[in-house]
Amino acid sequence: MARDTVTIINNATGQEIEIPLQRGTHGPDVVDISQLYPKLGIFTYDNGFKSTASCKSGITYIDGEEGILLYRGYPIEQLAEKSDYLEVCYLLYYGELPTKEQYSTFVTTILHHSMINESLRHFYGGFYPTAHPMSIMVGVVGALSAFYHDSLEIDNPRHQEISAHRLIAKLPNIAAASYKHSIGQPMVYPQNKMSYAENFLHMMFSVPAEEYVVNPLHAKAIDLLFILHADHEQNASTSTVRLAGSSEANPFAAVSAGIGALWGPAHGGANEAVIDMLEEINDARQIPKFIDRAKDKNDNFRLMGFGHRVYKNYDPRAKIIRTMAHDLLKNSSGNDPLLEIAMKLEEIALQDEYFIQRKLYPNVDFYSGIIYKAMGVPTNMFTVLFAIARTIGWITQWREMISSKDRVIGRPRQLYVGPATREYVPMGQRG
Ligand code: ACO
Repeated sequence: MARDTVTIINNATGQEIEIPLQRGTHGPDVVDISQLYPKLGIFTYDNGFKSTASCKSGITYIDGEEGILLYRGYPIEQLAEKSDYLEVCYLLYYGELPTKEQYSTFVTTILHHSMINESLRHFYGGFYPTAHPMSIMVGVVGALSAFYHDSLEIDNPRHQEISAHRLIAKLPNIAAASYKHSIGQPMVYPQNKMSYAENFLHMMFSVPAEEYVVNPLHAKAIDLLFILHADHEQNASTSTVRLAGSSEANPFAAVSAGIGALWGPAHGGANEAVIDMLEEINDARQIPKFIDRAKDKNDNFRLMGFGHRVYKNYDPRAKIIRTMAHDLLKNSSGNDPLLEIAMKLEEIALQDEYFIQRKLYPNVDFYSGIIYKAMGVPTNMFTVLFAIARTIGWITQWREMISSKDRVIGRPRQLYVGPATREYVPMGQRG
């Protein structure tokens, strides 16, 4: 038997197949089980994809055991320190860091496509003022496909690129408009002279009645958080984008599906849930009670912002923004009591046997929510900011999927456990 193979034997029939292992650049080897059903007549079952690679990808690499995150091979720590969000967008989409000229052209393209069609702005009026901004995002981003018929050929690389530029450029505007609608303020047009992060803050917080000056520390924090959230390989929302896109739906529809998947508290909604939890704890003396609740199997309560499906070590992104959270709070007036509760909670949880044994460390959302709160971003906008940052990841992964030579519609199978075949009983004869 060759060393780089796995043999699978169906003991019920005695049939066996030898499958070669596939080796990536980093990470565990992969068994290609696509011949399992044709040759052995069996499926695999992997609830939640815990042992299943759903695609081949050259974009992002995570080593959850070691706490490593690479974008196109570059460690997240280096990008966070030396790069900016739009350069990271370029890197993710095109695969290489840009030259000075490429960077400048890319930034100009993005900053000059930030306006949205005026007809699209009318969509907002149809949403109830109390609508969650994520519900508006799902609707409005999906609706972009109604405006750009000129560039929706999914196999045309130039059309793919134009759609990517439009999504990256317009998401901050769409997001800020969803916030403005929810608070009854006029939507603010983008300013091309501002950076991507400054522009977003301007569209979020300025009003026509007075001058708004962007706080440079806030712009820096937004840019950093956007870098950290830009991509995270095959998570729930990205897999949703790939699956929706695999049916050859247009990229706006696929990204809109991804936004829906991001919304849940087990994924992008966690930073919002972290603040709700910290507010519920309210007083550091209450922490032990909440830790006990998190450990109690009869209680559904979980410590929000702790644990990660992939990281069984400190989330490297959490390490980076932990420092940013401190810098930001040092420069804001007074100490935020929620940050103090958060720090204490982190300290206690990291020493607790339950959390140590299960390798439950604070994740990126534990700190991002606190940073957003310190900047005055309302809680219901946290996941929306995540969606802006992740758009580059989604569109890059979509492009990789759609351009793959072995592209195929994603169609999982199942283990059927419902009733066996039975005869229809007419209504009058049912007991
Ligand atoms: N608080 C308390 N216990 C927890 C927590 C938590 N936050 N997370 C996991 N556990 C426990 C589970 O009860 C389980 O215990 P058991 O082995 O005794 O049954 C064990 O740890 C393993 O948990 P799983 O749910 O199997 O781990 P999984 O990898 O499936 O879940 C998840 C990961 C969903 C992120 C989970 O840790 C969680 O719900 N965390 C809180 C929500 C959160 O912060 N989500 C953000 C994810 S990051 C992101 O999307 C950017």
